[in-house]
This record gives sequence, C-alpha cells and structure tokens, in this order.
Amino acid sequence: MDFTNSLLLWYLENQRDLPWRQTRDPYRIWLSEIMLQQTRVAQATPYFFRFLEAFPTVTDMANAPEEAILKQWQGLGYYSRARNMHFTAQQIVAEYQGNFPNSYKKLLQLKGVGEYTAAAIASIAFNEPVAVVDGNVYRVLSRFFGIETDITSSKAKKEFSELANTLLDKNRPEQFNQALMEFGAIHCTPKNPKCESCVFQSGCIALRDKKTTELPVKLKK
Ligand code: ADE
Repeated sequence: MDFTNSLLLWYLENQRDLPWRQTRDPYRIWLSEIMLQQTRVAQATPYFFRFLEAFPTVTDMANAPEEAILKQWQGLGYYSRARNMHFTAQQIVAEYQGNFPNSYKKLLQLKGVGEYTAAAIASIAFNEPVAVVDGNVYRVLSRFFGIETDITSSKAKKEFSELANTLLDKNRPEQFNQALMEFGAIHCTPKNPKCESCVFQSGCIALRDKKTTELPVKLKK
C-alpha cells in the first residue's frame, strides 16, 4: 500500500479525539492551529474552550479590547500570537464582514496568516486540496523518504511542500493533513519514535538506514 493510504488508515484507527476536530468552523480551526503552533495539546485545550466562551465568533474577538484578549491568553506565552489574531480578526470584519475568506489564496492575504495557517484553514474548514507543512511534516517525510535537505533552508520549504502536495489525497485534504501532523505528533516523534510498531516499517528509509536520530537535518540552531 502506498504512503498516503497507509497514513489515512493509521489515522482512522489512531487519531486523538480533539475538540477542534469536531468542527468545520474556520474561526475555531484558526484558533486551534495558532494555539498548537507553540503549545502542546494538553495545555492548549482548556484555553481553547475558555477563549471560545469569551469570544464565540471572529466578530466578538475583533470587537473586544486587546487587554481582554491578552487576559484570556495569559499563561500560554508567545503573546504576539494573541495580538496578531486580534489584528487579523479586525481585518476579517472590516474586509469580509466577519466571514472568513474561503480559499488558501485569500487567507494568505490576511496580514497575520502565513502559509501554514492558510493551508490548515483552507484544507480543514473548506476542503481545499493544499498540503500543510509544519515541523511534524518535515520530520515524517524526511524520515520516510530519507531526505537530507537542511530543513532550515529555503530550499527545504519548497521541496517538502511539493512532496506533501504530491502525496496529498485530493479527495480528503483535511484527513490527509491532520493525519500527517498527528502521525508526527504521536508516533514519529522527535525522540524515541515508535518504529517497532510503525505502519511504515517496510518502506521507511530512515529506519532501513538507521538514521531516525539524524533526520530531519537541522543545521541552524
Ligand atoms: N498540530 C497542529 N495542528 C495539528 C492538527 N490539526 N492535527 C495534529 N497535530 C497538529
């Protein structure tokens, strides 16, 4: 079976039941993805619920004073995330009447939204076939395919993004993206990956060549 099908099967059986997986609301997807970029699931989850209680919609967030947003963010760290979200929420209200732009291209034009976040929202909320590339994706793909490109280089971004988009199941972009990130988060982990119980045992180059600790290559520190 090929990489994509094995991954999707693995995800069906192993995915965690996380609160933001119950929704297609772009606002909730956005909030969860911003939180998860620098915060672990266990820590982010209670914040996710409290934040939505305080600001149920993007318009509520836009209309709130910055102090109120920062107060809800208190303890999560990287406070520029909260300030940037506030700014973006106001942009969504001003330019899109509070309705999230519904394509990767339009999402990217929002000031606070980069490639990762745009791809996550477009695929998960709007089913657009665009692959996400985050640290999990670099790790899983570099190991499975034995790619030794330095992931801090600009070349890597293009290389991994093209590969992920080639592998992407165009009919299930949401499942594919979440599966790849989930696999990196709970199975193909940075330290002590669970190779002994891995569905990719027979195809993984890093396992074959005993390079799991060397991949991904990350030269800058
Ligand atoms: N980490 C960040 N976003 C994620 C997602 N949607 N699924 C799994 N892990 C993630």
